[in-house]
Amino acid sequence: MRDFTRKDVEFILNCAEKMLPYATSGTSVLQSKILALLFFEPSTRTQLSFDSSMKRLGGSTLSLSSAGSSILKGETLTDTIKVVEGYTDAIVLRHPREGAARMASEISSVPVINAGDGAGHHPTQTLLDLYTIRKESHLNNLDIALLGDLKYGRTAHSLTYALNMFKANITLVAPDGLQMPKHIISTLDSVTVTDKLDDVIRDVDVLYVTRIQKERFPDPNEYLRVAKSYKISLPILQGVRDNLIIMHPLPRLDEIATEVDQTKHAKYFQQAFYGIPVRMGLLTIVMGGAL
Ligand code: NCD
Repeated sequence: MRDFTRKDVEFILNCAEKMLPYATSGTSVLQSKILALLFFEPSTRTQLSFDSSMKRLGGSTLSLSSAGSSILKGETLTDTIKVVEGYTDAIVLRHPREGAARMASEISSVPVINAGDGAGHHPTQTLLDLYTIRKESHLNNLDIALLGDLKYGRTAHSLTYALNMFKANITLVAPDGLQMPKHIISTLDSVTVTDKLDDVIRDVDVLYVTRIQKERFPDPNEYLRVAKSYKISLPILQGVRDNLIIMHPLPRLDEIATEVDQTKHAKYFQQAFYGIPVRMGLLTIVMGGAL
C-alpha cells in the first residue's frame, strides 16, 4: 500500500467500477496475455479470484504451488521468478516471507503483484476492502473499527495504511498481545487503541473482523490463550448504527456467528465477490489493456 497515493487508489477503484459489468459477463481486453499465479501459502479467494478475473478479461493463467514445483527441490525464489517472467506478462505472488513480493518485483522484468507476504501486507485485499466500503458504506468521514489479530493480520496492516489516506477515524480492537504494530500506529492521524469492542461497536459505520492467524504464532500456547476471545453474534449487535456494515477478508473460523449472515449488516460475501472487478481493473492497468 505504501507504493500508492490516495490518487492512485482512487484511480484503481474507478477502474474497478468500470469493470463491474464485465465481472459476470467477461470481455477480451487482455486476450493472449498470460498471468502467473505463484501461491506458496494456502489461498482460496485470492487465488481463485485472480484466476477468474484474468479469464473474465480474456487472458489465461499458469499456476504454481510449492507442492508441485521445483521449490521442493530447493530452487530459490529468485530463480523461479527469473524463469516465470519469460513465460508470462505479470506475476501474482503469495509467499510466507515478509518482503518476498518486493524482492521479486526488484528482480522481475514483468509486473509483480503482492498477494500476501507472510505477516506483512496484502494490498489487493485492501483495494477490494476499500471498494466494498465505497459501494456499501462511504469513504468520507468514515468511522471504522478493526477487530482481531492486528499483530499478524496482513489484511489489517494494509487496510490501516490505506484508511489513513482517506482520513478515516480508526479504532483498533485487539486482544492483549495482538494489537497493531507500533510502527503502523505511529503513522495514523486519527486512531483509538482498545481491547473492548463493546465500548466502540455502536459508534462505527464499518466493523472489519479478522481471524486469529494461528499459523503465525511462534508458540502454540500463546495461540490457545487468545483463541475464541471474541465473537460477533446477534446480541452484540444490539444498538449498532442502522447502516453498520460488517466485513471480513475470510476465511472465518468462529469470529462471526453464522446467524449474523442473515442480517442486513453482513457484507463479507459481497466483499469477496468485489475481488473480481477490483482485480480485473488492476490486471488491466498493469498489463496495459484498454479500460
Ligand atoms: C486473508 C489472508 O490470506 O491474509 N485471506 C484472504 O486473502 N482473503 C486473511 C486470513 O487468512 O485470515
